[in-house]
Amino acid sequence: MCGIVGATAQNEVVNLIVDGLRTLEYRGYDSAGIAAQNAEEVMIRKEPGKISALQNSLVKNPVSGNCAIGHTRWATHGKPNRENAHPHVSGNAIAVVHNGIIENSAELKQLLVNCGYRFASETDSETIPHLVDLYLSAGNSFFEACRKAISHLEGSYAVAITFANEPGKIIAARKGSPLIVAQGEQGFMVVSDVIALQEKNQIVYYLEEGDIAEVSADNCEFYDSKGKRVSRTGTRLGQSECVATKKDFDSFMQKEIFEQPEAVRATLARRLVNGKVSERLFDKGSSAILDGVENIHIVACGTSLNAGHVAKYWLESVAGIPCQVEIASEYRYRNPVVPPKTLFLSISQSGETADTLAALRFANDSPYLGSLGICNTNNSSLFRESEAAILTKAGVEVGVASTKALTTQLTALALLVLKIGELRNTPDAVLHNIADALLNLPSALDEALKTEEKIKEVARSISRHKSVLFLGRGHHYPVAVEGALKLKEISYVHAEAYAAGELKHGPLALVDGSMPVVVLCPENNLLEKLSSNIEEVKARHGQVYLLADHDISSQTCRGAKNTIEFEGGDSFISPIIFNVPLQLLAYHTAEFLGKNVDQPRNLAKSVTVE
Ligand code: AGP
Repeated sequence: MCGIVGATAQNEVVNLIVDGLRTLEYRGYDSAGIAAQNAEEVMIRKEPGKISALQNSLVKNPVSGNCAIGHTRWATHGKPNRENAHPHVSGNAIAVVHNGIIENSAELKQLLVNCGYRFASETDSETIPHLVDLYLSAGNSFFEACRKAISHLEGSYAVAITFANEPGKIIAARKGSPLIVAQGEQGFMVVSDVIALQEKNQIVYYLEEGDIAEVSADNCEFYDSKGKRVSRTGTRLGQSECVATKKDFDSFMQKEIFEQPEAVRATLARRLVNGKVSERLFDKGSSAILDGVENIHIVACGTSLNAGHVAKYWLESVAGIPCQVEIASEYRYRNPVVPPKTLFLSISQSGETADTLAALRFANDSPYLGSLGICNTNNSSLFRESEAAILTKAGVEVGVASTKALTTQLTALALLVLKIGELRNTPDAVLHNIADALLNLPSALDEALKTEEKIKEVARSISRHKSVLFLGRGHHYPVAVEGALKLKEISYVHAEAYAAGELKHGPLALVDGSMPVVVLCPENNLLEKLSSNIEEVKARHGQVYLLADHDISSQTCRGAKNTIEFEGGDSFISPIIFNVPLQLLAYHTAEFLGKNVDQPRNLAKSVTVE
């Protein structure tokens, strides 16, 4: 999704901006631009396509300045062309970069057109520089003009604004979209993601909802939305929060798949003590949020939603607590009924997903017992706005396709299930088994990664097909859904997942000799039922690929085109482990098809708009 990098310093900042934009490439974008300012002029360069196109344009027509704002745009209003790329300007003096969506842009545009402004783009964002100009023309200071302009914006925004008559100053503001001010040795930066900060050890200030910051090379003042000066506490940025390299891997996604044992180990660390879940599970709030809980509503999007679906099986079977899982964009608009003593649980890697945040805000105003967030990003909006939070310790995830974020979410959810089980008197033996299985999880993931070479063979044949079915039963059904999501997301091969028992209620019509069907085949009490479903596929000559526990019967495997056996682990953690071969399958299929696995088309890493 869109990215912002701005800097004001004692020295030249254009390269710093371009390098920062490069680090944001992983978020997904389709054009890029920069506005650089020196004492004489504001210079704009923008190009559709990759940042390399912007760099080529900067080689031909260089710009320089001690103050600049840059942007990567992921198109919402208008095509990804040069006109719609940011920065947007008014009178060639005011330049603005914007993340988010201005929902009342049509009406603002009309008002501005009536005042004589002409629009050069189809974007909602261009309303902002013209609004600032309108207030400047009325005699307001730059800061006041920005504050008044921003007060008209409905929807979500993170903006950075410069003005030719105030060289060296950036006005930064946010609502609903993240924005960070960072203080380094040479000056200040304004970024939408800490990863864009090139200089480590900076002091970072996370703007709060409605905040406006007046930033110059040697100072920064913070104001709330009413213009009242406020103080914000800075934190020193650790190395691990802003470093993302591929190491020796071909892509970030491949590296992140192989980082899973370590990420899970970090997520478990110090949280399981003598088979019991310690208070360290909570990075914000405490287990008191679970007191008296009788229902759970889980809300999330995409892969995080799939993690929630697995957790529902766990919560109901282990802790005996009713659980409902819902897509955030549906939940927020349907006036959900909240039974007494219900906990709201949101899950998000980024902690900035617009729909999940909107659902959380709705929940915070509803009669829930409390809101608990599971998130990979400390200080994200979800972390700050939830009453209690559990951080997954996956480290920075750059690949658009979520891998280690998912396994660490499932790990955190498993710990939460254990904690709720303890509170609801689940038998000790059950809880001890789960705790032991969790401690064994990192090495079980290591084992599952050894399937890579065999998975490559399956990927080679899958890559020749246009469509694939995934089947699973019980808590492996949401894992099958995740496997299908992963495949379509990065290889663009159409994929659907079904609970295997649903096959004969419709999708079986699709099965013929050319249809690959990937079946998740754990050794558990549903195996017999699943074997019958596999027979239904074989009888229609479907090409069966089994991902199977080592010890499943040879009868189940007979007639399968390919069977990949591995140690699926204890039944409870098995859905976590089965993700690994599915991630490898998606990854290698995409590789065979020559796709960009880290930045799949049309997708963004952090979906900060509705
Ligand atoms: C996963 O591979 C996706 N790219 C996507 O579904 C993602 O999980 C979803 O957008 C939710 O993101 P979040 O976890 O950051 O909220």
